[in-house]
Amino acid sequence: MFITFEGIEGAGKGTAMERTSQWLDRQGRRTRLTREPGGSALGRELRALLLDREQSIEPEAELFLYLADRAQHVRQIIRPALARGETVLSDRYADSTLVYQGYGRGLDMAALITLQTLASGDLWPDLTFLLDLPPETGLERARARNKALGLERREGRFEAEDLAFHRRIRQGYLALAAQHPRFRIIDAGRSPEAVFQDIRLILEPLILLY
Ligand code: TYD
Repeated sequence: MFITFEGIEGAGKGTAMERTSQWLDRQGRRTRLTREPGGSALGRELRALLLDREQSIEPEAELFLYLADRAQHVRQIIRPALARGETVLSDRYADSTLVYQGYGRGLDMAALITLQTLASGDLWPDLTFLLDLPPETGLERARARNKALGLERREGRFEAEDLAFHRRIRQGYLALAAQHPRFRIIDAGRSPEAVFQDIRLILEPLILLY
């Protein structure tokens, strides 16, 4: 089973994924935690370029770097893990491209879907958790985290965008979630424990099917 976690900056995807993977392990599932950008060896190089606040990257160039990351990630990491029967949990995937490059940067949605299909070999998640919360709260959390970890320059390119950008991102996610039944919207403005309990209740019946 291929599960993705999506949401704006500071939604708590990392914590939710950590708990979910520990719980899946206890259920006897072999899980593989991964992320975009940066799930593969080439992807880690691309990640450093993509998130560096000093880089000025044109929207089209940004798109192709994310797609290059995805092409490697799918073929070198995700598909082999799924073929071994593992449950793959990815911190961001295709929906991030549709939302950030589409709703955020204003690139054409139909073109994005065609290119994402090509880059991923038409691999879409079985299930997507959208960790939803107001951008004001998310940005505050993300900036505090980057500051505490000294990552403002290295990881701060998107955190530096204005509130209007992040509002478009949230609306974009909610629009996608309304279109695709694989989405589950989780209220991420609560404690990590409450967020995880929602995720567990959704996964419990599903892991019997996969
Ligand atoms: P990351 O550190 O993974 O996100 P977070 O701050 O939520 O932990 O940074 C990834 C950034 O890249 C994030 O701001 C969203 C952006 N992104 C895109 O614009 N397009 C994409 O296709 C992907 C995968 C990520």
